[in-house]
Amino acid sequence: MSAKYVGHDVPHDSARGHVSGESIYIDDIPPMHRELIVDFVWSPYAHAKIKSIALPEHVDGVVALYTHRDLVHNELGPIIADEPLLASDVCTFIGQPIVVIAAETREAINAAKRAIRIEYEELTPILTIEDAIAARSFIGETRFIRRGDADAALASAEHVLEGVFDNGGQDHFYLESQAALVVPGEHGALTVHSSTQHPTEVQEVIAHLLGLDMSQVVVNTKRMGGAFGGKEAQATHPATMAALVALRTKRPARIVYDKDSDMHVTGKRHPFRNRYKVGFTSAGEIVAMKVEFYSDGGAYADLSPAVMARAMTHAENAYFIPNAEILGTVCRTNLPPNTAFRGFGGPQGVATMENIIEEIAATLNRDALEIRRINCYGIDTRNTTPYLEVVENNTLPRLFTELEQRCDYRARMDAVHAFNDSSRTQIKGLSMSAVKFGISFNTKFLNQANALVNIYLDGSVQVSTGATEMGQGVNTKIRQIVADELRVPLARVQVMQTSTEKNNNTSATAASSGADLNGFAARDACMRLRQRLDDVQTRYPDFDWPKLVKAAYMERVPLGERGFYATPRIDWDWTSGQGHPFLYFTMGTACSEVLIDRFTGELKVLRSDVLMDIGKPLNPGIDRGQLVGGFIQGLGWVTTEDLRYTDKGVLLSHSPTTYKIPNVNDLPEHFSVDWIDVENPVNIKGSKAVGEPPLLMAISVWCAVKHALRFVSNGEVPKLRLPATNEEILMRLTEYTKRGVVAV
Ligand code: HPA
Ligand code: MOS
Repeated sequence: MSAKYVGHDVPHDSARGHVSGESIYIDDIPPMHRELIVDFVWSPYAHAKIKSIALPEHVDGVVALYTHRDLVHNELGPIIADEPLLASDVCTFIGQPIVVIAAETREAINAAKRAIRIEYEELTPILTIEDAIAARSFIGETRFIRRGDADAALASAEHVLEGVFDNGGQDHFYLESQAALVVPGEHGALTVHSSTQHPTEVQEVIAHLLGLDMSQVVVNTKRMGGAFGGKEAQATHPATMAALVALRTKRPARIVYDKDSDMHVTGKRHPFRNRYKVGFTSAGEIVAMKVEFYSDGGAYADLSPAVMARAMTHAENAYFIPNAEILGTVCRTNLPPNTAFRGFGGPQGVATMENIIEEIAATLNRDALEIRRINCYGIDTRNTTPYLEVVENNTLPRLFTELEQRCDYRARMDAVHAFNDSSRTQIKGLSMSAVKFGISFNTKFLNQANALVNIYLDGSVQVSTGATEMGQGVNTKIRQIVADELRVPLARVQVMQTSTEKNNNTSATAASSGADLNGFAARDACMRLRQRLDDVQTRYPDFDWPKLVKAAYMERVPLGERGFYATPRIDWDWTSGQGHPFLYFTMGTACSEVLIDRFTGELKVLRSDVLMDIGKPLNPGIDRGQLVGGFIQGLGWVTTEDLRYTDKGVLLSHSPTTYKIPNVNDLPEHFSVDWIDVENPVNIKGSKAVGEPPLLMAISVWCAVKHALRFVSNGEVPKLRLPATNEEILMRLTEYTKRGVVAV
């Protein structure tokens, strides 16, 4: 079947609406009759005993105040239900909700906040990974992946290097904050409009905490103004607070966090502190690696164990390591529970490995690209991961070769050396990093999806899936698939808002797999519909689509169908740390060149070239957008976004004035993104998932900074934290100057 829409630049279904302002977000839904504003009093302490909560008898305009006592159940959590929605006797992070306020006006909300009296007794918080390790404050057990004998191989290795690699957290900085509107119905039924990647989890948590059946709660998601993982597990909190108000007051209730509050109270990307030891030959071949990952999980489990699992399965990245020991421990601290964030631990694992590669190159005084080529996964040999999944359809060697040529790596490396030999005021760095990103949820049962396709009497089509639209274009991709499968004009296909009423027990739109899982499920439904219609067509060979649909209806042929998909071949076993967790890998390489001011540490990205294997894109224009946007978001993580807290755990960088996301001036002066022409044999229409992997391509920028520091560290292996902020770079430069080791 020829694809009329798949593989083409069909415009994003919200392209017009976003530009004209017609697109509707939660806060754009017109106010409802008797609607209440919902807000909450949160813990001002990272760790404190709650001695008493005194609620005022009456505040003008305030309709209700609720505490943990008003909930049927108070525990939530996507993996372990260990987190109270409303703190009762102890609060464990700043921003933890304690009292829910429902009021007619903002002024009344503020008056209520002043009138509520909570007595605390401050306790000592744990605010860093080191403190958590010292206190043995962990979430769950240390887990491991082991292959071969790392200790023995390290003992006999020609070279061994070890160190500690710190990488920082990241705020999601979605433009639409957490938000929900809940409308009460009959007999406890609730209709919830939620800005969430995971309508089913919002439904489940609301039902459980309020003592309802899931069947009484309908959660709808039209779209999100960005999510990036921040609305995978943490959209539940605002939605449940609004649901409590709606259920008890029988009035519509809306909650919308303001930006600063959102940044204070929600969890972020996990910071990691990783210890590593790696053995290698004089030729640069890695013989063994030991890595101990420690993540800051915050106060509750949230998705931390799964994030750690992804870090661990990305610890070796694109490189074959015969003897590997990878340990992962989640630390419990008194920060908001850290959560999913684009890449989901993958960036933290991959950055650790790419740092190791740069250090091996520095130790041997070699070009880091040579080290990468020597250790890159092979096609037929040296192609099993430490967890024993075979890297199939490996395009990494091709990507390295093609990008090296396309971006003129050799000549530019020579030019960087020449520049650094002559400049006393600036240094340059150049590095090409890689990514191999495993596609599938690393929790097996989440890899399923269902779809509902209805054909109406006039031949128009509605498709509903569990996929949620957060700007990434999944609705457009599903629409293209459905139009092609049914062989109808695109204009006849509507993708409906996501609703738990249409699609039950869905997974979060996450793990880059929204289009894969839901695209396959939609196709499954369409194929059965098309089969039935093809059968009708044999009797009416001249009928066009609308006539055919009418004829099928008259013959009482069902014109609705439900599709299902479960990812084949995947398996994982934590007791052995082995399995086949991913259906396939999205791969890529990126080469970045940076310029650093030696007196201020100021960083400028001169050029970045990204070359990926994203299969045959379902929609090249949308995928190009993902490559560009993902890279820029990664650029923020590796260079400018720095979460700073007081020694009491108060977030200082809680607005764009103090938290620096990239703007147009921070982009590479020369920036190209492209992909190779290759089909993915195991995924929908030959495509590959593209949501998260491009974020990791920005690690090349960080590696280029590390490379630049080699020119001023006089043979020492330079150290560098992530993010490489101007301040961090200046501190490293100053350190080398003070110790008199500056070369150049
Ligand atoms: N990615 C995103 N969300 C998840 C995953 C994952 O791999 N596993 C469980 N939840
Ligand atoms: Mo995403 S970080 O898989 O929501």
